Amino acid sequence: MSASERELGAWTIETPDTGDSQIRVGRNICSWAVATPPGCGRVAILTQPSVNRLAANLAARISLPVDLRELPDADAAKTLDVVGAVYEWLNSIRFGRGDRIVAVGGGSLTDVAGFIAATYMRGVDVAYVPTTLLGAVDASIGGKTGINVEGKNLVGSFRHPRRVAVDLDILDALPKDLLRDGAAEAAKAGFIADPAIITAYETRGLDASLEDIVPAAISVKVKTVTADFRESGIRATLNYGHTIGHAIEIAAKLPHGHAVAIGMAAAGKVSERRLGFAGVARQRRVIEKLGLPTRAPAVEGNAVWRLLERDKKRDRDGVRMVLLEDFGKPVLRHVSDGELRLGFEEIGVAVD
Ligand SMILES: NC(=O)c1ccc[n+]([C@@H]2O[C@H](COP(=O)([O-])OP(=O)(O)OC[C@H]3O[C@@H](n4cnc5c(N)ncnc54)[C@H](O)[C@@H]3O)[C@@H](O)[C@H]2O)c1
Ligand SMILES: [Zn+2]
Repeated sequence: MSASERELGAWTIETPDTGDSQIRVGRNICSWAVATPPGCGRVAILTQPSVNRLAANLAARISLPVDLRELPDADAAKTLDVVGAVYEWLNSIRFGRGDRIVAVGGGSLTDVAGFIAATYMRGVDVAYVPTTLLGAVDASIGGKTGINVEGKNLVGSFRHPRRVAVDLDILDALPKDLLRDGAAEAAKAGFIADPAIITAYETRGLDASLEDIVPAAISVKVKTVTADFRESGIRATLNYGHTIGHAIEIAAKLPHGHAVAIGMAAAGKVSERRLGFAGVARQRRVIEKLGLPTRAPAVEGNAVWRLLERDKKRDRDGVRMVLLEDFGKPVLRHVSDGELRLGFEEIGVAVD
């Protein structure tokens, strides 16, 4: 590592099928992100419009032949059509089994690039350079890839990227609204597993140092997914705030993090009723300090309820939610309709 590079955290996830997955957080670590192994003869960079200049800068650091392709922005990249077009493009540039894809962008871009890497030639290497906070602390970590086919993330695979390079110099320049949206997931990591994140956000809100937040939040996700790669038990605790939050996200068309913030407010209240969770007020203060909502915008409550009902059909015992016994103590519980209603009431959603 050169003198100007600074490492703030590093993890290795052992993946017997595809080799180890390395994650690094630091400053000026882009050279590491694009370093290639022996046998790699070519790099294909996939990126999205907002960060194509950054991707071109990275391309300039690579001494091998490099091809760069910009995909449509955000969710518009997560389609079968885009995936098919990229497969054909990889054929046309004669991308080989030992070559590497580098994905530069937010969570949508790494989700689709990861899916392409997991499936092209039955799996090729990919390195992620996440460029949003949500991507850095959540989407790029844990090996889930996916695209939308009618349902969101309905088609995907589990495959860890070979490298994830989280460069805080990139995240420092994020617009406030993107920083805020990602902060919801980082705060979630705090609520379920790390009191230091809660304290940092409680005191400084969005001005909290990314050096304090990002490595800590990644650490929570790495530990959780390492314990449970395919989401049978403990991995599900990462869904705190996501059951009601996801329904609100669809019904109110909110950005994911904003919906998760509202979902956590609801889940906190249900946790209080069910498990005596004493942190409802504090959790609300932290979310509000970040400028995130704790109440839903005007939505048709019954429509949100039906979205949850749809979830419920998947499990005959009802809706399973992540609740908190305390900060750092998440548990999975089936909740009654009455408890769900209480959660809805907390976020200002009326149901019949
Ligand atoms: N795989 C997983 O485990 C996982 C987990 C959580 C979320 N996700 C997925 O992540 C996606 C959401 O993540 P996201 O919000 O990062 O998505 P995104 O890639 O859609 O980025 C959001 C917007 O920010 C722009 N952007 C990206 N980097 C920027 C930068 N540095 N400066 C300015 N603008 C920038 C993008 O162009 C886009 O318009 C969803 O598709 C979701 O399904 C996946
Ligand atoms: Zn989420």
